[in-house]
Amino acid sequence: MKIDFQETKKDLAVRIDIHSKFGSKNIDEWMLDLIKLKKGSRILDVGCGSGKQCFSFYDSLEGDAEIIGGDVSAELLNQAKAENERRGIDIRYDFLDFNQVFPYPDNYFDFVSCCFAIYYANDVGHTISEMHRVTKPGGRLFTTGPMPSNKQLFYDIIKEATGKPIPPMPGSSRFSTEFLSKIEKTYSHVELHIFENPLTFTTLEPYMAYTRASMSEDRRLWSSLFVDKDDFEMIMGKISEVASQRLNKEGKLVMTKVVGGILATK
Ligand SMILES: C[S@@+](CC[C@H](N)C(=O)[O-])C[C@H]1O[C@@H](n2cnc3c(N)ncnc32)[C@H](O)[C@@H]1O
Repeated sequence: MKIDFQETKKDLAVRIDIHSKFGSKNIDEWMLDLIKLKKGSRILDVGCGSGKQCFSFYDSLEGDAEIIGGDVSAELLNQAKAENERRGIDIRYDFLDFNQVFPYPDNYFDFVSCCFAIYYANDVGHTISEMHRVTKPGGRLFTTGPMPSNKQLFYDIIKEATGKPIPPMPGSSRFSTEFLSKIEKTYSHVELHIFENPLTFTTLEPYMAYTRASMSEDRRLWSSLFVDKDDFEMIMGKISEVASQRLNKEGKLVMTKVVGGILATK
């Protein structure tokens, strides 16, 4: 299945910033605590975007690791490389299209991660089998994605505002079912862990900034809601009205991120 999706530097940065400002928990701490990386490891982060997880791995290992981040977006890779330069560090950032054969040998990495990206693969079986191929025997995979109950409030507000069904989301509809079972068939030991992070908004502006960065036309996931050119702003207006009514009634908007983390051993 071809997924029509594109991440942009701006939208990704807005969402990362809002998660950290309005969430009560830190997903990187949860991840690092679960995966317990070892110094000296060779690590690949697939769909690394602007390098969020790579920098987190690097910091937690005090730089004692060989880390490669791979992504298909030149814009996001350039942003990651600029951060490398700013920090004076040497994480390697490669062009990597996870729909193709990965440009790495068999049994090469101690640890492979793929955070909030695997569900954009055209053929998830191919991407999982490539991640498995490049992992050493006994090495591990860690992949994250949204659970079906993720961001219930966000979807409820959109449904109420538009009167239309939510288009099937490539992540939450498949991560803990189809992908988990494919990983279970490929790896020897597999665990599913859950991370819940309530984001609490007491004003409308950051909630709408999050909504815009999630539904922006560039990302294309929501195009079934936007038929005409002016629909985007019209729908943002309706969402803003519904969100504002709920905010006035409840005093806050609480949108809970519910994320699954699959940790698997080859
Ligand atoms: C939601 S972002 C997550 C980025 C990063 N892991 C993070 O959590 O900040 C999804 C990423 O998947 C990447 N991606 C989409 N299709 C890809 C492909 N075919 N090959 C490699 N990366 C891809 C996007 O460019 C984007 O960086």
